[in-house]
Formats: sequence, C-alpha cells, structure tokens
Amino acid sequence: MTNRARKPYIAGNWKMNLDRARSLDLIKTVKGRLGDGGDREVAFFVPAIYLADVSAVAQGSPLGIGGQNLWFEANGAFTGEVAPRMLREVGADRVLIGHSERRHVFHEPDDWMGRKVRAALDCDLLPIYCIGETLDERKGNRTERVLKRQLESGFEKVKVEDCHRLTIAYEPVWAIGTGETATTEQVGATHKMIRKWLAVRVGEPAANLVRVLYGGSVKPDNAKDLMAVEHVDGLLVGGASLQAETFLPIVEYDRAPA
Ligand code: 13P
Repeated sequence: MTNRARKPYIAGNWKMNLDRARSLDLIKTVKGRLGDGGDREVAFFVPAIYLADVSAVAQGSPLGIGGQNLWFEANGAFTGEVAPRMLREVGADRVLIGHSERRHVFHEPDDWMGRKVRAALDCDLLPIYCIGETLDERKGNRTERVLKRQLESGFEKVKVEDCHRLTIAYEPVWAIGTGETATTEQVGATHKMIRKWLAVRVGEPAANLVRVLYGGSVKPDNAKDLMAVEHVDGLLVGGASLQAETFLPIVEYDRAPA
C-alpha cells in the first residue's frame, strides 16, 4: 500500500458458492462488524440470482454489492445473460469483468473486455477488471506480454475521466483456489508493471486514481504482508470470503488478532 489517495479495497468473490440463507447471514455479520467503514472499502460479488436479497440486507451499510459478470448490451436475444441495467435494478453498484474463470472456463475472449468495461461505466457500475497469466505463460516468460494484452483490451474504451471509478485486479491463474499465493516479490514486480502501463496509457494523474488489487489464495495469514507490498491497493478474495471468520480478519488486516 503506497498511495493514501487510494482507499484500501477488500472484496469477496463468492463465485458459485453459498446458498440464499448463508449469503444473507454472512452479509448481516459483516455489516454488523463494519460500522461506518470509513477508512476502507468492502464489497461482495454475489451470484446474480441472490443480488436483490443480498443488497436489500446490505442497505444502510457501506458494504458494496456487485455482480460477477455482465453482457455489454442493454437488452436483446442473449439467452442466459445479464445486462448492466439489470444489475443496477437489483441493487448492484459494481461488477467483476474478465475474471479468470470467465476467460478460461467460459472462453470469454479479450475483444469483449473493452465493451464490457465501457458498458459497466456507462451504467454507473464500478468495474473491477481482472487480469492474470497462466502457469505456462509465467514459466514461458510471457507474463508481461499477456497482462499488457489484457490491459489493452480492457482499456480500449476507457477515458481519462473514468479512471477514478476503475479498479484492476491482478489474479495469477495459478494462484486461484490452489493455496499457492504469489510471492510478495512477484506481486510487487507485477503491480509495478501494471502501474507503469497505466501511467503511459492514461497519464500519471489519472493512473494514480486506479486501484490495483491482488487476488489468488488470499487468507487471513497472508493479507497483511500482501497489503504491505508497494502498489497493492487491496485484495480480491475467493474461498476465504465465504465465511465471516476468514473474511473479517482479511478486512481488518492491519489490526492485531483478538
Ligand atoms: P481464491 O481466493 O479462492 O484463490 O480465489 C481468488 C479469486 O479468484 C477471487 O476472484
């Protein structure tokens, strides 16, 4: 964490987990603990079908609630997809775009990403644009090339004035759900590269407004070290966001354990 202008952002991605009752319980617990939440931003990315109920319970708290994906058109013959305006309608104020599982399990191509990010911004949804290399790409020394290609596609339609609403999440594919976290050196080097790319793409002042999160096997026992890495502005948490006992210590990474 280096720049105090960028508020620390701790986000939980539930993926296709939990059920309705457990989702609502978790929101109640975290909401109760957050208070006014002034010095950090906390959000959950929720299965679309639970968004309306979850956002109703989160109301009145600073907890952000988001969708895990969107399609970039407002309506039409897109069976199974969710439009940005539909996410807004059920209480989402943010959305994940280009998550590794969307890219690798569902084969979403790079050339959708710019339109997805634009559609989110145009509908007043705060995007977290996810990027990350596979193990083969890292081993083959292609990490930088892959991440730059992903950044270029996601930023295709981004303007300088959008930057304060934009977050990037660096999630190495090989660290997701594997228990293998990237080392603080790897995270530091990659985040530095991303920040340099941003400065070239949108200019330094706008680049300084974009938060860059790390994701991939974040746990209570590594959150503090990851947050101490230069250029890391927050964490995107998968498995450990499914229970208050593991998520809250990550949110409170800078407080001593009780
Ligand atoms: P895990 O924290 O379970 O590795 O998942 C990371 C992730 O994909 C968050 O979006």
